[in-house]
Amino acid sequence: MELEQVISQRRSIRKYQDKPVEREKINACLEAARLAPSACNSQPWHFVVFDDPQVKDAFCKEAFSGVYAMTKWAAAAPVIIAVVSDAGNFTSRIGNFFRRTEFYLLDQGISCEHLVLRAQDLGLGTCWIGWLNGEKAAKFLHLPKGKKVEHLIAMGYPAENPAPRPRQTLEEIVSYNKYK
Ligand SMILES: Cc1cc2nc3c(=O)[nH]c(=O)nc-3n(C[C@H](O)[C@H](O)[C@H](O)COP(=O)(O)O)c2cc1C
Repeated sequence: MELEQVISQRRSIRKYQDKPVEREKINACLEAARLAPSACNSQPWHFVVFDDPQVKDAFCKEAFSGVYAMTKWAAAAPVIIAVVSDAGNFTSRIGNFFRRTEFYLLDQGISCEHLVLRAQDLGLGTCWIGWLNGEKAAKFLHLPKGKKVEHLIAMGYPAENPAPRPRQTLEEIVSYNKYK
């Protein structure tokens, strides 16, 4: 698929076919994530793939509990990827301090967008999930201190074809040579 098509056809998918995703395809998506750039090349990410239905269900029960129950739909996705962050390497943390930013979050965003675009390329649907119980998810995974489940990616063969969500126009978001 052409990159332009991959980008324009991707949607957040919240309904999935009851069909497992081949490990080769999951790994191809993770390989795309692995190749992403990151500040000071710190690669501040780890991906935990839940594709065993029983383990996935147990994880989802924790991650989508309480006020996060509205994300329960995602438990029906054949694959859930938990994206675990750390705060980046020493150099990138110095960068955070001076720039007053969190480079590791930018880095994760880039790598996960690589992942979802490769998934689209392979005929898979995905949805980013930020609305989860991070504490319970971390406890489930026995994460060491300082590590966090920043967000999840649901993945599977799509069972819906949503219309594109609205976007701002280029005129609204771009200016050349000055700010607005
Ligand atoms: C960082 C991030 C977190 C998101 N969290 C959720 C979520 O918790 N639940 C959900 O249903 N969609 C979530 N989404 C999907 C957005 O709602 C979706 O990308 C947006 O509405 C645009 O729709 P589209 O992806 O189909 O173009 C998230 C997207 C991003 C990038």
